[in-house]
Amino acid sequence: MNLITCKKSKGGGKTLNYLLAAVFAANVWAANVASSAKSPALIPAPREIALTGGTCASVAKFKIERVAGIPSEGYELFVKPDCVIIRASDKAGEFYARQTLEQLKKNGAVPCCEIKDAPRFKWRGVQLDDVRHFMGKETVKRIIDEMAKYKLNVFHWHLTDDPSWRIDVPGYPKLLDYGDQCRMSKGQIPMDKSPREGGRYYTDSDIREILAYAAERHVTVVPEIEFPGHFLSVLCAYPEFACNPEGVNKMNRIPMVIGVQREVMCVGNPDAVKFVEAALDKVCELFPSKVIHIGGDECPRKAWETCAKCNALMEREGLKDTGDIQTWLTCHVVEYLAKKGRRAIGWDEMLEVKDGALPVSTMGMRWLPGAMDRVVRAAKAGHEIVNCPHAFCYFDFKQGLAEDKHRYMGRRHIPLKTAYLYDPLAGIPKNFRCKIVGGQCCNWTEFTSAPGELEWKMWPRTLATAEVLWTYPDPKTRDFEEFRCRAEIHREAMVARGINAAPIK
Ligand code: ACM
Ligand code: ZN
Repeated sequence: MNLITCKKSKGGGKTLNYLLAAVFAANVWAANVASSAKSPALIPAPREIALTGGTCASVAKFKIERVAGIPSEGYELFVKPDCVIIRASDKAGEFYARQTLEQLKKNGAVPCCEIKDAPRFKWRGVQLDDVRHFMGKETVKRIIDEMAKYKLNVFHWHLTDDPSWRIDVPGYPKLLDYGDQCRMSKGQIPMDKSPREGGRYYTDSDIREILAYAAERHVTVVPEIEFPGHFLSVLCAYPEFACNPEGVNKMNRIPMVIGVQREVMCVGNPDAVKFVEAALDKVCELFPSKVIHIGGDECPRKAWETCAKCNALMEREGLKDTGDIQTWLTCHVVEYLAKKGRRAIGWDEMLEVKDGALPVSTMGMRWLPGAMDRVVRAAKAGHEIVNCPHAFCYFDFKQGLAEDKHRYMGRRHIPLKTAYLYDPLAGIPKNFRCKIVGGQCCNWTEFTSAPGELEWKMWPRTLATAEVLWTYPDPKTRDFEEFRCRAEIHREAMVARGINAAPIK
């Protein structure tokens, strides 16, 4: 990438300092981004930068110093006329210093400068729904590659849902057959027409290849296995795991469904629970991530009310209502994962429990607009939260372009500006902000059928996510016009790399 300078910035200072203030207060720092006319257009903006004059023509001459006390993933970068010095306390910090250096390069030279930088949040994510439409190994790698350039570090991989199941679970071969056989029911939207890459699922060796690729780029891959709702692909392959197998059999195999269906996993059936355990065994065998996503959203609980097996479970375990059934399953799985040294995270509905019902290590992922009470309660109870409210983070919503041939979910709009106004700490009382570990953008694919279309919807909006989660510019004075100018430059660089990034309105 070339040295990129932002000429249109407003609010620039007299000095060449790019980022002028980093204010720490009660675990929270907010950076005031103010760039000068010749400031490098870095994304995410670093915490502090001072241009020291001249350029360095020998950026290949490196000195790496491990320095205790620099925050994890943080770094100090000194570009001198004759060499580059990187200081970091860990490999990730060194990696991010190198990403900054790449962004600073112009025709092989870099402006001499001193940068001190560290992320505000430890979870800086991108989610991909690889189920509604299958994107394939090469697309996943391209996403991870771009993420790393912008210091995003969690790839949340949604691998199972109603229409399909994308990984092998030993002992359950029909899952993958069904993943490949979706048919459309009357009135439903077109099924997955994505191209096959040796079947529309990831082999173990595909997954290992992706994991190695991500590890080289300091990206943690967090797999998501959905249950007890969004489970139709399993139920169509194994109707006996449903409360109502006849209802499943009446469905036209696996349709591409939007929203919630009534058929649900029978939590009272020990064989269905065993299946979930087997899926998690497989996930833990393949994925090194400490955190495993267990879904938990939009579960239709009606069938549990009248199911004999679920009623027997309620009786045996002293469960009072169907909410308790989901909590029982969540606790079972959280403990199952804990025995393997893993931590569970689930969508915010999973946190709708009585205080203390879930082990405090369980993490929540907030997506619902009305979930703030639940999030605050969970944070107060000690749960860590990834906060990705859909109004700012769901990039399957329209981006407000004058010309856009693609289909989007619903009527909402998230233009780049809205994505940049995203504040993961909004509405969280000061004392509990330390429980918000970060956020992410989410890329659901009901209406996104091909990799190029996915890129169009992701970029440049994901640049906004990256800056919010790394730099956390002060929400009260966040300067969208200044960011927009830098984003335009990066969008052009992305297009030059072959990414189908959308124009900025
Ligand atoms: C979700 O969008 N149902 C997590
Ligand atoms: Zn049941």
